[in-house]
Amino acid sequence: MRIAMIGSGYVGLVTGACFSEFGFNVTNVDQDVKKIQDLERGKIPIYEPGLDSLVQHGRAAGRLSFTTDLSGAVNQADIVMIAVGTPTRRGDGYADLSYVYQAAEQIALALNGYTVVVTKSTVPVGTCRKVAKIIEKTRPDLKRGIDFDVASNPEFLREGSAISDFMRPDRIVIGTDSNRAKELLSKLYRPLYLIETPIVFTSIETSELIKYASNGFLAMKIAFINQMADLCEKAGADIQELAKGIGLDGRIGRKFLNVGPGYGGSCFPKDTLALSRTAHDFNSPLTLIDAVVEANDSRKKEMAGKIIAALKGRGDIKGKTISVLGITFKPNTDDLRDAPSLVIVPELLKAGLKVKVYDPLYYAGSERLGYATDLDGVEWSINAYASMQDADCVVILTEWNEFRALDLDRIKTLLNAPQGFKPLMIDLRNIYKPSEMEEIEYVSLGRGKIAA
Ligand SMILES: NC(=O)c1ccc[n+]([C@@H]2O[C@H](COP(=O)([O-])OP(=O)(O)OC[C@H]3O[C@@H](n4cnc5c(N)ncnc54)[C@H](O)[C@@H]3O)[C@@H](O)[C@H]2O)c1
Repeated sequence: MRIAMIGSGYVGLVTGACFSEFGFNVTNVDQDVKKIQDLERGKIPIYEPGLDSLVQHGRAAGRLSFTTDLSGAVNQADIVMIAVGTPTRRGDGYADLSYVYQAAEQIALALNGYTVVVTKSTVPVGTCRKVAKIIEKTRPDLKRGIDFDVASNPEFLREGSAISDFMRPDRIVIGTDSNRAKELLSKLYRPLYLIETPIVFTSIETSELIKYASNGFLAMKIAFINQMADLCEKAGADIQELAKGIGLDGRIGRKFLNVGPGYGGSCFPKDTLALSRTAHDFNSPLTLIDAVVEANDSRKKEMAGKIIAALKGRGDIKGKTISVLGITFKPNTDDLRDAPSLVIVPELLKAGLKVKVYDPLYYAGSERLGYATDLDGVEWSINAYASMQDADCVVILTEWNEFRALDLDRIKTLLNAPQGFKPLMIDLRNIYKPSEMEEIEYVSLGRGKIAA
C-alpha cells in the first residue's frame, strides 16, 4: 500500500515516518522546498525526540521518501492524507482552510485509480465533504465511491511524545461513509490491532467533531485547574494537593490538572476558537468553550502582572532584569506557536524590564532564533545560569527537565536582591516545593497561605 502525505510538518512528518515504520511505502510531500531539501539531506526541520532515527530508518529501508512533487506522489498512492496547517484565520478566529482546499484541488488533478483522500488535519465539521466537492468540481470525470472516497482521520499525537503517541494511541478515529475506504483504512491501522488499539468508526461529521471536542475538553480542564489555583491562593489551600485529591477520582482523571501560565501551542488555542465559531454558526453556542478561551487569554496577561507585582513588592522596577527560563509552550518541542511566552515576555518588556532568556532549544547562538522574532528585544543567554547572572528575578515558564534540579546555592549567588530581601524565583509550573526554598523568595501558583 502506498501513502502520499501532503504536508510534512509536525503531524505529516511524524505520521509519515511512523507509517513507513509499519512497513508501508510513504511519500512525504511539502511545498516548502527548503524543508524537503533538508529532509533529503537527513536534516530534520523540527525538534521531536526520536524522529531523526525513525526517518533515517524509513529512508534506509527505501520506504520513506520526500518530494515537492505532489502530483507524482498522489498519482501512485492508494491513500492520500492531507496534513497541512489549519491555523486561525486572521481577524475572525475561524480555522483558515485555504491550505486544505488548495491541497484538495492539487490532489484532484493528480488522482489516478481508486484512492481514499483522508483529512488528517484538524478541520471543522463539514470540511471533509467540502474536500469531496472540490475534487468532484476540479475533476468532473471522477465519481465519488468509484474513483475516490473521502474520510476523516484526526490525529491526536502530542508534540514532545509524538512517536509513542502515534505508535501506542488511546484510540484511532475514522469517519467515512464508504465501506471500501473503511476497509483500506482498517488495513492501514492493522499494525495497531496487535496492541488492541480501539478503532472508532463513525460518520465523517462525528469524527471531525470528536477532534475538536477532545481538544476543547482538555483545554477546559487546564482552564479549570488554573482558576482553581487562583481560588486556592486566596483561600489558603494548595492546588497540588487539590489536583491530586480530585484527579484520583476515576471520573476526573489525573492528567491535564497541572497548573500553569495558560495553555498554548499549535492546537488548543486555535482549536478552541474554531470550535466556538463553529458552534455559533450552527446556532448552538458552546458557552463553556467561549469562557475557556477568554479565561486562557486573560491568564497569560495575569501571569505577566504577577511577575511585575512580585518585583514591585521589592522596590522600583525601573532598570530591573528578569531571567526567563523556557519559552516553548511545553518541554521537548521547539514549537513556539501561541506559546504563553509570546504574551508574557512582551508584557515584561513593555513594563520597561530587561529580559534575558534561555531555552534548551532557543539560546544564544541557536539556529532557531530566526523563528523567535516575536521575542525581539530580549537578550539570549547560552544557559540557565548565564541568564540569571545579575538578574533581579528568575521566572520558570516551561518545565524543561533541565530546570527541575537547578543548583539553588548557585542561583542565590547569581541573582541580585535588594537589602533585606531574598533572591526571587517565580515558578509558573510549580516544579519546586516551597519547603526547598528557605533562602529564596519563591512565588508559585495556587499555594495559598493562611495568616496564623
Ligand atoms: N502539531 C500538533 O501537535 C498537532 C496534533 C494533532 C493535530 N494537528 C493538526 O494537524 C495539522 C497540521 O499541523 P502541523 O502542526 O503539522 O502543521 P505545520 O505547519 O507544522 O505543517 C504543515 C505543513 O504543510 C505544508 N503545506 C501546506 N500546504 C501544502 C500543500 N498544498 N502541499 C504540500 N505541503 C503543504 C506546509 O509547508 C507545512 O510544512 C493541523 O490541522 C493541526 O491542527 C497538529
